[in-house]
Amino acid sequence: MPKVIIKPYNRIIKCKTGDLLSHVIKKAIPNFPTPCGNRGFCGKCLVRVLEGKLSEVTGNERLHNLKTGERLSCQAKVLSDLVIEIPIFEQYKALISGYEPKVDVITPILEKKFVEVKYSTYHKPIPVDKILLKSIDAESLTGKCIGNLVYAKNFSRITICKRGKNVTHILNGYKKIYGFAVDIGTSKIATYLVDLDSGETISETYIPNPQTKYGDDVISRITAVINDVNTLYEMHRMTLSSIEKMIIEMAEKNGIEIKNILAGVVVGNTVMISIFLGLNPEPIGRSPYIPYLSTKIEDYGDRFGFNLLRDAWIYIPPAITGFIGADAIADIVTTLMIEDINKNILIIDIGTNSEVALIRNGEIFVASAPAGPAIEGEQISCGVKSFNGAIYRVRIEKDGVNFLLYGETPLGLCGSGIISLVSEMLRKNIVSKNGRFYGDKSFFEIVSKDKSSTGRPITVTQRDLREIQKAKAAISSTWSLLLMKNNLSINDIDRCYICGSFGSSLDLD
Ligand code: FES
Repeated sequence: MPKVIIKPYNRIIKCKTGDLLSHVIKKAIPNFPTPCGNRGFCGKCLVRVLEGKLSEVTGNERLHNLKTGERLSCQAKVLSDLVIEIPIFEQYKALISGYEPKVDVITPILEKKFVEVKYSTYHKPIPVDKILLKSIDAESLTGKCIGNLVYAKNFSRITICKRGKNVTHILNGYKKIYGFAVDIGTSKIATYLVDLDSGETISETYIPNPQTKYGDDVISRITAVINDVNTLYEMHRMTLSSIEKMIIEMAEKNGIEIKNILAGVVVGNTVMISIFLGLNPEPIGRSPYIPYLSTKIEDYGDRFGFNLLRDAWIYIPPAITGFIGADAIADIVTTLMIEDINKNILIIDIGTNSEVALIRNGEIFVASAPAGPAIEGEQISCGVKSFNGAIYRVRIEKDGVNFLLYGETPLGLCGSGIISLVSEMLRKNIVSKNGRFYGDKSFFEIVSKDKSSTGRPITVTQRDLREIQKAKAAISSTWSLLLMKNNLSINDIDRCYICGSFGSSLDLD
């Protein structure tokens, strides 16, 4: 059984002869990038082999001008003990919360009531359920409540919760109740623990989406499922257990008992929701891009596969179409809470699949743009996610290039860094408006090789500029089409929201 030593982490992983090196590295370093889903296209899974033997160099690797000792780990199989070196991929703290609108009336996912029950007597016999239902103006009980009903006879003070006309929870005593919200993003999963009595967010956290093992974009994940359906069950399980782990950790830190977490809302794009539900996302990947499920769905946690959160009532908002999912609905609902819906408002959620919504005189129009991953730092020669070392602001001065980065040693450019750099290059007449370098330049260097953590210079190339132009064009044509269909021009827009952590970190100067 070969051993792989990963430097500078000094992690030692045992694997089988013939295992794919990228899979072995991911076991120890989940952040290790494999954006193209191990297909040998992106070149981001590069490693330096210090000792040991790997399988033959593949045709895809030959296209990447690798130096001696360098290999694409997604193309190389382990044949002996190995010592390899990779850059440090340490996730920088991503922004997962932003503007939280204050709302006067909260309509919670569950309605709660404290009830002091006076049970029927021998002379006035009334079934226990009738007494409880009447106390909260409900009509029926879920099957799960039947067990509590038996014990409820012994309680005099009870907390009852209902969803619509259906009683979902019966608790002994007067209890505070909690819920959670989850945003399953293609690259990270963000979770929030919420006090359901006040609506306040108590705690929030996130992890990189573990599904990135099968590629950074939704198409790579769909392809992985098409190639091997077992991948779907693995991604489904990984997603559920990551969510549950984050919620439990937040609850424990805040002294909250799991049994008092009674509800949860889960949003995500249609592929992420399909995987969360264990449904094959394949139809979303081919024309006419229709998901299996588009309506809202709600039930107890165990029906979705949760273990410790089995009694929480889970709600998933509806999707609009194949590429406008519950996450876009959440963007629109939040905007409607804070804006005058009679204004003209544009909402843009930028990502690999970008969603655009236009609110006009109370009507909502939506469309999606396949922007591709360039704007998130992928398909860009020196693009990275928001790892430590990611450059997020660039200024080109007479004395050289100044930049801001997460951490200390530059690793590459993240999405907001790329936008900042391109606008600087336009301003400083390094590239023309049509995206060509002036003169005979074919790249622009931001960091020299001796100052970067990879030992390679950090540059932007003509090909990178084309990728960024394609992404920008996809998003611009989407909102332009929505405006055109509504006989509006950009000057008619009262406000434009750019959502998500990308929007929050955009360099508006
Ligand atoms: S080239 Fe290996 S993951 Fe893309």
